[in-house]
Amino acid sequence: MRGKNNMKKRIDVNEYAGMITKALPKGILLNTNGDKFNSMVIGWGALGTVWSVPAFTVYVREHRYTKSQLDKTKEFTISVPLGQPIPEINRVCGSKSGYNINKAEEAKLTLEDASVIHTPGVKEYPLTLECKVLYAQEQDLSSIPDDIRKRMYPQDVDGSSPMANRDAHTAYIGQIVDAYILS
Ligand SMILES: Cc1cc2nc3c(=O)[nH]c(=O)nc-3n(C[C@H](O)[C@H](O)[C@H](O)COP(=O)(O)O)c2cc1C
Repeated sequence: MRGKNNMKKRIDVNEYAGMITKALPKGILLNTNGDKFNSMVIGWGALGTVWSVPAFTVYVREHRYTKSQLDKTKEFTISVPLGQPIPEINRVCGSKSGYNINKAEEAKLTLEDASVIHTPGVKEYPLTLECKVLYAQEQDLSSIPDDIRKRMYPQDVDGSSPMANRDAHTAYIGQIVDAYILS
């Protein structure tokens, strides 16, 4: 669904940094718009400064539909709930793949066009960061501490699993080019 009469209240990301990092482990949305719009739940991310620009870095496993889109479009939006996450949105976007379904329809997301890039935000999770990918790098599993590698990258779990599996993450550093709250 497309939103109507949308308003964007511009924000200074630094003032919302605590809110964003607290929301992360409960699940926020990483949206991409390649062959179609798609949202996936992420629990890992890094807000900060890289190469003197404000940046948000995301970590995406090899077989996520999101990765195929990011590699094509090199941009994404981040959507953060202002309160608690909505269980149905987190269930659909965190356990199903854009390879199989249209998540915007299944999770009943209201999409709002972005201002600078071509990837919409999600009105239900109103705090929005528009990001352009500056750099992408696949993580080297052999350089990850043993205990973390065993827990996070079980080699007996196929990459199609929506949760922890054998696939490495690619880190995508996104320059934040716009930040606002949708209403
Ligand atoms: C709370 C939570 C946090 C997650 N964090 C990540 C993450 O940071 N990186 C990742 O690759 N997958 C993460 N996932 C798994 C993806 O959301 C899930 O595999 C999703 O179905 C992928 O969708 P896609 O194939 O449409 O990209 C997380 C799932 C949940 C429930």
